[in-house]
Amino acid sequence: MKLARILAAGLVAGALAMPVAAQMTVEDQIETRKATYQFISWNMGKIKAQTVDGSVPFDARQMMAAANAIAAAANSGMSALYSPESAMDKAENTRLKPEFFTQPEKAREVGVNFVMEANKLQEVAVTGDQKALAQQFARVGQTCKACHDDFRAK
Ligand code: HEC
Repeated sequence: MKLARILAAGLVAGALAMPVAAQMTVEDQIETRKATYQFISWNMGKIKAQTVDGSVPFDARQMMAAANAIAAAANSGMSALYSPESAMDKAENTRLKPEFFTQPEKAREVGVNFVMEANKLQEVAVTGDQKALAQQFARVGQTCKACHDDFRAK
């Protein structure tokens, strides 16, 4: 118990001391950022199909896997994929608005909301409750939209 706590504290301190993006080029940030959102989107699509549209039969285990994937991506430290140099005023092949960096509090808020709702999605998926999952899917979707409205160009 005690050891686990010490190890956990060490991990947190290590994560703070060493920015994981240090070696990443702007091109890699953009590519990984877009690929991660595509991956998230693919998994959101599975949940929509089974809980909202009903175009695919409901399978609680598949829903858990999809929610786990979304939560894992959300918690992977995506802020490391964002640098001012990777915004569309300075870089190519990206729709990231520079406002993401001139409105850091807003950016942090939409980011935190996304992670929180993605974590809840994972919790709801475990219950196997199709209706509750549809509702939580919508809440996650609102956090995607909030960020896109402010920080992703059309
Ligand atoms: C913190 C802000 C933020 C959140 C939250 C967010 N996105 Fe995005 N998303 C962006 C930005 C910025 C881009 C543009 C990335 C680029 O072009 O570099 C983007 C791009 C995308 C893309 C296009 C990727 C590509 O290949 O160009 C998809 C699809 C997407 N997001 C889906 C989602 C979904 C689904 C969610 C929620 C489950 C979500 N996003 C949550 C900011 C966000």
